[in-house]
Amino acid sequence: MNPIYEKLLKCLNSVREKTDFVPKVAIVLGSGLGDYANDIQVETEIDYHDIEGFPVSTVPGHAGKFIFGYVKDVPVVCMKGRVHYYEGYPVSDVVLPTRLMHLMGAQILFLTNASGGINPSFSAGDFMMLTDHISIFAPNPLIGANIDELGTRFPDMTQVYDRQLQDIIRNVAKKENIKIQEGIYAQLTGPSFESPAEIQLLHKLGVDAVGMSTVVEAITANHMGMKICCISCVCNLAAGMTQNPLTHEEVQAAAKEAAPKFKKLLTESVIAMKEV
Ligand code: HPA
Repeated sequence: MNPIYEKLLKCLNSVREKTDFVPKVAIVLGSGLGDYANDIQVETEIDYHDIEGFPVSTVPGHAGKFIFGYVKDVPVVCMKGRVHYYEGYPVSDVVLPTRLMHLMGAQILFLTNASGGINPSFSAGDFMMLTDHISIFAPNPLIGANIDELGTRFPDMTQVYDRQLQDIIRNVAKKENIKIQEGIYAQLTGPSFESPAEIQLLHKLGVDAVGMSTVVEAITANHMGMKICCISCVCNLAAGMTQNPLTHEEVQAAAKEAAPKFKKLLTESVIAMKEV
């Protein structure tokens, strides 16, 4: 058996020894958004350390566990903390949790992240709903023998971010009076922030926001046929757009400040996904 698939099934067994919860929506919480988990009616939690073979993050603010529970009456699994490629894990480990949540039953993947804004009309603290992405600066997570049990060798990427889910998020934002931008997100590997020249290049390529996660997870989820959506918290203007140097602390502080609105947007959108 494909060793990556074998490892995945081992993790699934390990989870199933602890809970038989079947989530509909899988939620990934980005930098500084970890305390969203407080808004979930928790059924059970599993520490990543307790799942055999599961990659565990080393980044401050990304301490890891799965939280299983309900957002109103929608069953969700929430990843409090994700692993990033820049931590040194093979990309197959970075996307293992996404695959695992799908095998637990999740049909929808709701990604969140922190990003740097490149579109000149964006401000720090804005939210951006992804309409598409650029993956070519990050490793493709599907390289290697295809896992036929999960999806096809050459998956179509014409519409990664589901239109119906985008409509739901747009409508919720409007109803809740939360300003939301839309645009294209590019994942770079990090961990260094970009140089101003790199940001100018990305701007010319049509990138609206840049970050260090999400796209590899979205590709993997799309490979498996999940419905995907993503909201990014634009925590800072990208390098060279202001005089300020960038710091992780600044990113976390901005995400924390945006958290109450972000939670509202997330909660109401997940509730509206009940019928999807
Ligand atoms: N660049 C890359 N990743 C980020 C940024 C940024 O400016 N801000 C938050 N995550």
